[in-house]
Amino acid sequence: MSTIAEEIGKRRTFAIISHPDAGKTTLTEKLLLFGGAIQTAGAVKSNKIKNTAASDFMEIEKQRGISVATSVMNFKYRDVLINLLDTPGHKDFAEDTYRTLTAVDSVILVVDCVKGVEEQTEKLMEVCRMRDTPVIVFINKMDREGQNQFDLLDELEAKLNIRVRPLSWPISIGATFKGVYNIFDGSLNLFSANKTKIEEDILSIKSLNDPMLEEIVGKKDAEQLRQDIELIEGVYDPFDNVRFREGHIAPVFFGSAINNFGVRELLDTFIRLAPAPRSREADTRIVSPDEAKFSGFVFKIHANIDPRHRDRIAFLRVCSGKFERNKFFHHVRLNKDYKFSSPATFMAQEKNIIEEAWPGDVIGLYDTGNFKIGDTLTEGESFQFRGIPSFSPEIFKEVINADPLKSKQLDKGVKQLTEEGVAQLFIQHNGNRKIIGTVGELQFEVIQYRLKHEYGASCNFQHLNVYKACWVTYDDKEEFEKFSRFRGHQLAVDKDGNYVFLAETSWMLNTIIQDFPKLQFHFNSEFKTA
Ligand code: G4P
Repeated sequence: MSTIAEEIGKRRTFAIISHPDAGKTTLTEKLLLFGGAIQTAGAVKSNKIKNTAASDFMEIEKQRGISVATSVMNFKYRDVLINLLDTPGHKDFAEDTYRTLTAVDSVILVVDCVKGVEEQTEKLMEVCRMRDTPVIVFINKMDREGQNQFDLLDELEAKLNIRVRPLSWPISIGATFKGVYNIFDGSLNLFSANKTKIEEDILSIKSLNDPMLEEIVGKKDAEQLRQDIELIEGVYDPFDNVRFREGHIAPVFFGSAINNFGVRELLDTFIRLAPAPRSREADTRIVSPDEAKFSGFVFKIHANIDPRHRDRIAFLRVCSGKFERNKFFHHVRLNKDYKFSSPATFMAQEKNIIEEAWPGDVIGLYDTGNFKIGDTLTEGESFQFRGIPSFSPEIFKEVINADPLKSKQLDKGVKQLTEEGVAQLFIQHNGNRKIIGTVGELQFEVIQYRLKHEYGASCNFQHLNVYKACWVTYDDKEEFEKFSRFRGHQLAVDKDGNYVFLAETSWMLNTIIQDFPKLQFHFNSEFKTA
């Protein structure tokens, strides 16, 4: 029997993030191919939604069979068990991605060498920076005429607020791309445009002064490579594993996912550098993965798209101890114990019932409505994991019931869909107007569609002029009451009963912050950042 330390040591749990089209799906697929988890290309369905229409989204969901199939992919590479968590590609589903990022120990960021750092990448990286998640950068599409590599590195540092350190370096780019030099072990990996070949042509050279280099890549590129490496060694800090694990420095690799190029190198380095499951902060203490007792938290809830089956799947990340099938665990928020008879892992189209799971693993638990995002399960102790905050949505709309005979169904549907994390629900303070906040328009269509098809309820949305939702806390009750009298119509309550101020403009928010110095305003639900 293996020990808990051994189980932890061989696990790596991570996500791939990118701006849409940079190559996340392609890289995911190649990693699965290299890991032997799939045999042919094309097995991973892209979760890209080309047209922003709810019907397309629902169609894609159906095609993917309840779509959990690709939510968590686990495979073995060498001796390491890898859990790869999928993140939605569409920007309107960014919130789902933010939550998934709370459940990983590291991240591979894919950047398109032609486009550089794009908007979505910046936002996702901000979330990684909040938790100091270690990041490995993969610069993709080197077979295209991309930007100058040094400029790309500068852009990464400037826009992502992280130091970078190339661990491989490209030899030319685009049509004349020849391969990469592995700075780490001094080998040359030669490029050939081949979408099916898995093996790479690795050549060892004694040093950069080896005359073989000229023979292999030509005089001009050999000279350029020597100059570039000299510059890199002079300008960039040496790679430091501790700083990487603290999220301060990101190693950078170059390659071309579609051509299987640089992927094995990335994977080999990934299993060496990326951290195994680590300690996690709960509200009462730090929980270490090697504690004997089980704990974990729910970071994603997936509804069954088939309306005949109302069950949902709650995705739980194991944080400590050992999860066991059919054993009672404590649901801290509800103060109740539950056991799970068919906890599952998912791979491609397969679902497997598991008997046990260890820190770093992500399991799917069938749920009939007991879970909300952020819920903690333990072996009895009462604590809640932190680090699963809600952020302010960007679009706010009031729910208007369009079928008064179905108001119960509407209430239930809105409650369940928002518990799943499709959107955030705010209920007006001293009233019952329901306000839904999202990061994209698409969610409103999805909500409308699902309310109709799954709950038989109809609603319309009325746009609200809200700039930001700010969580409000106070020590001085009188001050809060004064604020509530003055701004009650803009005050709402979130899913956990916290007060939220819905500010119309940034100017108004600043004025209110100045006018009520004894209140605290926070930009996410964990009240860490003021
Ligand atoms: P995403 O999940 O990040 O949104 O990106 P995805 O992998 O779907 O890749 C986006 C496009 O970029 C795809 O082309 C894909 O084939 C292409 N691509 C991925 N890696 C490379 C690479 O290394 N070099 C080049 N030149 N292209 C690459 P598409 O035309 O949008 O889709 P498809 O018809 O090829 O599937």
